[in-house]
Amino acid sequence: MRNATSPFTDFGQVSGPLYASADRISRRTGALHRARASGRHAAEVIADLAAEAVPSGAPVIADIGCGRGTTTCLLAARLPRARIVAIDLSAALLVTVRRRLPTGAGAGAARADFHRLPLGDGACNLAVAAFCLYHSPSPERVIAEIARCLAPGGTAIIAVKSADSYRELDQLMATSRLVPDAPGRSSLYETAHSGNITRLAATSLDIRQVINHSHAFVFPTLAEIAEYLATSPKYGLPACLTSDPAVLAAELRRRLPDESFTMTSVVTYLVAGRAAATP
Ligand SMILES: C[S@@+](CC[C@H](N)C(=O)[O-])C[C@H]1O[C@@H](n2cnc3c(N)ncnc32)[C@H](O)[C@@H]1O
Repeated sequence: MRNATSPFTDFGQVSGPLYASADRISRRTGALHRARASGRHAAEVIADLAAEAVPSGAPVIADIGCGRGTTTCLLAARLPRARIVAIDLSAALLVTVRRRLPTGAGAGAARADFHRLPLGDGACNLAVAAFCLYHSPSPERVIAEIARCLAPGGTAIIAVKSADSYRELDQLMATSRLVPDAPGRSSLYETAHSGNITRLAATSLDIRQVINHSHAFVFPTLAEIAEYLATSPKYGLPACLTSDPAVLAAELRRRLPDESFTMTSVVTYLVAGRAAATP
């Protein structure tokens, strides 16, 4: 079911409050990181795949939808001779990326919409698009842009999550009666996810490898769940609850037993190359 009002494909949300500062994404990934019980850190997996894929020498790498630049910084550390351009729609996040990148690294940051990448045809040896394609209502257009920018023999690494990621949280929201219809709501990852990314990518790229990793997150109490939940745009919780995780935790404790909670996700890494030119 396509949800026309999904906050993840609403350009007003994505170019506005969702990424207007590094704060929400930083709290969200921090809460997930603290709760991680299994599954490798995605930026490390991507850096390993990148190191395998790029030619020796000084490859040109684009980190598309770079966010706070965690993957960008790891790529710069693993591939010190690379020239890296970090691309994102959010000017605020690019300020954070520039601050985090090691000084003297051959890296820069550019503000752009990934539907029109500011890169020449065949300019990149490697393009990374991690956890961002689900912000496009038509991710195959972004993948076609990525293909345009890849040099012959170049590689794209795309990371997405399963559409049913964190579905356990939907059930928790329904049980709490805070969001009774949560299990029926569309996935935040609806347009690009583990189940459709291979088909989407195959429209412009040659698929080389698809890797699925299961992730589990264990939150010891409702306080830790609240820290994550306060960053989620999915449930439309009122600002009086989301602006302070302690207030949200207190509301959850009024409604639910304060016990440990586990949620899961599958992360899919797709490695693909530019399709060979047809004669
Ligand atoms: C969940 S973050 C992922 C960040 C990073 N790649 C990571 O793996 O942590 C999604 C990023 O996609 C960016 N984004 C969303 N729509 C975009 C667009 N149309 N063009 C460029 N970047 C976009 C957002 O600004 C945000 O930084």
